[in-house]
Amino acid sequence: MSTLAVYPGSFDPLTNGHVDIISRGTRVFDRIIVAILVNAEKAPLFSMDERIEIAREVFKAHQNVEVDTFDGLLVDYVERRHAQVIVRGLRAVSDFEVEFQMALMNQRLNPTIETVFMMPAEQYTYISSRLIKEVFSLGGRVQGLVPELVEERLRGKGLAQKK
Ligand code: PNS
Repeated sequence: MSTLAVYPGSFDPLTNGHVDIISRGTRVFDRIIVAILVNAEKAPLFSMDERIEIAREVFKAHQNVEVDTFDGLLVDYVERRHAQVIVRGLRAVSDFEVEFQMALMNQRLNPTIETVFMMPAEQYTYISSRLIKEVFSLGGRVQGLVPELVEERLRGKGLAQKK
């Protein structure tokens, strides 16, 4: 049986921490779907189309990585896609509490779906999409923390960055 995993998130924007987790996921699971949450409540910096385009471009050489969007309950999406696993990254102890709650809630909603936590490489453990946006917009360097395409797109949005 081949194992299909869903890696859900906002990806606003995709960071090298996400890329690292997806790459690790491809070594453990047969296929992985990067599932971008359609969240009408938040005002994202990157539109859904941009986030899809970026993730597809970054993983274009990976046949076993698919990029998709979802709304509603994550477990319903996972079931619809006939996937067995939800992948989440754990960066630090601070992530644990909220991730633990989500995993247990998802387990209650659908006990047949397993959540698997993966640790990113050490150098990515402090990165988050929120920090990337904040640091970049205040003129800080984010080189090496996000894919080059994301850096380009951040510059394209007219946000400041020091050389
Ligand atoms: O990148 P994020 O913002 O940490 O991802 C959070 C995400 C998308 C995994 C979470 O908000 C989610 O699963 N939302 C879908 C709605 C849902 O199923 N909520 C109940 C989860 S316990």
